[in-house]
Amino acid sequence: MKPRILVVDDDEQNQVLLSVKLEREGFEVEKAANGVEALEKADTFKPDLVLMDVMMPMMDGYEALRRLKSREETRYIPVVMLTGRTEIESKVLGFEVGAEDYISKPYSLQEVAARVKSLLRMRALQTKLRETEKMAALGEMVDGIAHEIRNPLMAIGGMARRLYEHEEDEQHKGYAQRIIKYVERLERMLLRIDEYKTILVSTLSRDDINRVVKGAVIDIKEIIDGTGKDISIEASLMPEPPPIDMDAGNLRIALFNILHNSVEAIEKKGGIRIETYPLDARTLALKITDTGAGISQDEIRKTGISQDEIRKIFNPFQTSKFEGAGMGLTISYRIIQDHGAEIEVESEKGRGTTVLIKFHPAQKAQVKA
Ligand SMILES: Nc1ncnc2c1ncn2[C@@H]1O[C@H](COP(=O)(O)OP(=O)(O)OP(=O)(O)O)[C@@H](O)[C@H]1O
Ligand SMILES: [Mg+2]
Repeated sequence: MKPRILVVDDDEQNQVLLSVKLEREGFEVEKAANGVEALEKADTFKPDLVLMDVMMPMMDGYEALRRLKSREETRYIPVVMLTGRTEIESKVLGFEVGAEDYISKPYSLQEVAARVKSLLRMRALQTKLRETEKMAALGEMVDGIAHEIRNPLMAIGGMARRLYEHEEDEQHKGYAQRIIKYVERLERMLLRIDEYKTILVSTLSRDDINRVVKGAVIDIKEIIDGTGKDISIEASLMPEPPPIDMDAGNLRIALFNILHNSVEAIEKKGGIRIETYPLDARTLALKITDTGAGISQDEIRKTGISQDEIRKIFNPFQTSKFEGAGMGLTISYRIIQDHGAEIEVESEKGRGTTVLIKFHPAQKAQVKA
């Protein structure tokens, strides 16, 4: 998606000059002629950055800035004030109210574009850093809990096994067996948490996506053989795909987790299809389709699943399986994000599930149809 810029200026000529320049630089631009309009457009257009003139009728730039910064929904949108030479004082005022940057008039369009780009870059880095910090904190917490649970869990499991071995009463034996099964389930979860920790960092280097697909197919065939299910695997790979910056090992794990879900979703007999193909000039698609049970766990509704429900499957510990830890897709999502790629899921109860991953190869390596 193109970054969105809201240009706020009452001078129509300025508006046009700025928008044409920014559009040419690859931004999506919306215009507003005063502060009131700017606030409205901030809600509807949801800009990534606002360029704001100071002197405007109805509501001036400072008032609009103040209001943008006082509302939670718009507070984090960077604002660049366009100030006249005589408004030196006002620069200071702009910073006090919370403008991210200012540009003095008369400005060169080149300079405006450059500043916009650098601010957006900085903002993206900040967001990424915040997310990384959040993940690290979460990881530490989960790790701490896992550590505390491990020893008591082993003790419970050990004692339940002894009870099971020495108990004569069939009913009590059954209880002990249930405890053992649940303990094993929790142990699997702890193993998956360890796994999650080890894959957190992706180191990227240029590689061939088809190679990774072939590797994951080998892995999953082994799994299929072990289940005794009748599942066909079909791969349709585009010739000479553009190289992608990837961590081939991690990506193979991500793909394996997705394929594994497909295998689990197919009860006895079915098919899995894997395709790589160019989606558009800048996007390489990797699509996995299965003829499994579909994702909806809602027994009442027969078809369709909302995107909200779908998003949940990427959360940790979200599972519909007794044997599952609910970590497979959490791990895959994390890895795919590290590749700057996007993942989309569609599913229909009883018919199957499609997972689409969109990669963006390096600029020079354009995707050829
Ligand atoms: N292809 C699919 N078909 C049907 N349901 C799916 C599919 N992929 C995911 N799901 C649903 O999403 C849930 C979460 O998947 P995820 O891989 O994260 O965990 P899991 O498979 O339950 O456990 P784990 O992968 O850790 O062993 C699954 O339990 C399942 O309900
Ligand atoms: Mg899984």
